[in-house]
Amino acid sequence: MEKKNIDWGNLGFSYMETDKRFVSNFKDGVWDEGELISEANVTMSECACVLQYAQTCFEGLKAYTTEDGHIVTFRPDLNAERMEASAKRLEMPVFPKERFIDAVVQVVAANEAYVPPFGSGATLYLRPFMYGKNAVIGVKPADEFEFRVFCTPVGPYFKGGVKPLTIRVSDFDRAAPGGTGHIKAGLNYAMSLHAIVSAHEEGYDENMYLDPKTRTKVEETGGANFLFVTKDNKVVTPKSSSILPSITRRSLVHVAKEYLGLEVEEREIYLDEVKDFAECGLCGTAAVISPVGKIVDHGTEICLPSGMAEMGPVTKKLYDTLTGIQMGRIEAPEGWIKVIK
Ligand code: PLP
Ligand code: COI
Repeated sequence: MEKKNIDWGNLGFSYMETDKRFVSNFKDGVWDEGELISEANVTMSECACVLQYAQTCFEGLKAYTTEDGHIVTFRPDLNAERMEASAKRLEMPVFPKERFIDAVVQVVAANEAYVPPFGSGATLYLRPFMYGKNAVIGVKPADEFEFRVFCTPVGPYFKGGVKPLTIRVSDFDRAAPGGTGHIKAGLNYAMSLHAIVSAHEEGYDENMYLDPKTRTKVEETGGANFLFVTKDNKVVTPKSSSILPSITRRSLVHVAKEYLGLEVEEREIYLDEVKDFAECGLCGTAAVISPVGKIVDHGTEICLPSGMAEMGPVTKKLYDTLTGIQMGRIEAPEGWIKVIK
């Protein structure tokens, strides 16, 4: 298979149209068989539920070329399960898990020429999503839906790769108690756009959102969960019902305990405690683990001892072990790697 002529090493995290995407439509209470198509554009009613009332949810996962030349994805079953939770919360039909995984496999296989080579630093990002497609004008769910998976080759989510980030404590809230913070609804990202644009304007890479009720506890950023390391090498990660259950974070918790023998605590974390931590990272499919060097809380700087030059040592070990598992250098726990080719 001849690869596309792409400058893999200089890709950012942006969209590039690839050859094929998988589409299945839901009508009269059933999903059709679905198929791979070439058309990247979508046509729908001006009054589609997704356009008027944001009835949409999505997922994100990656395909990798391993050291020995296989193409694999990482834990797609968990993306399927999370999309099921998102769909139910948004009154959308569930796309069955086995079909979700099969659609991912089909899209990767059909776009093999876009799967970045091993060692290039790039990966193939997959974006499964679903939206309410027919016209509704009263506030109610659609009854026709489209499920689609497309893919695009990507480089690092944050410019500068693994250079530590500077983030700010946001005055905007991300998710209300009892709201939709725990699912991957498009609306969670719409409300974060102003916050991220203004963070960038002020020179920050991301926002740290606090719990909206008390504004004392750390929640997450716009696109990643937090992971902290204490000065005695314990991994600590926020527990909250309004953060997205990150597959990367759940995998890192396992890696920390089972591969690195570290103690892990999932608990409420107060903003006041953050100054006492040794390391901080943002974890997610796109972010992998991106180290944070500085957190600014309304003019007060919290400088992590790991500094602004490189990842802290525990974050680095977690990063190396997780990417080692994903790239096939380190043996994966049962069921984590889905081999496509
Ligand atoms: N938190 C938010 C708000 C996200 O959008 C993402 C990205 O999917 C994550 C966390 C990380 O989740 P995962 O590791 O499953 O990609
Ligand atoms: C991901 O990590 O897959 C995300 O969805 C984060 C962001 C691109 C929304």
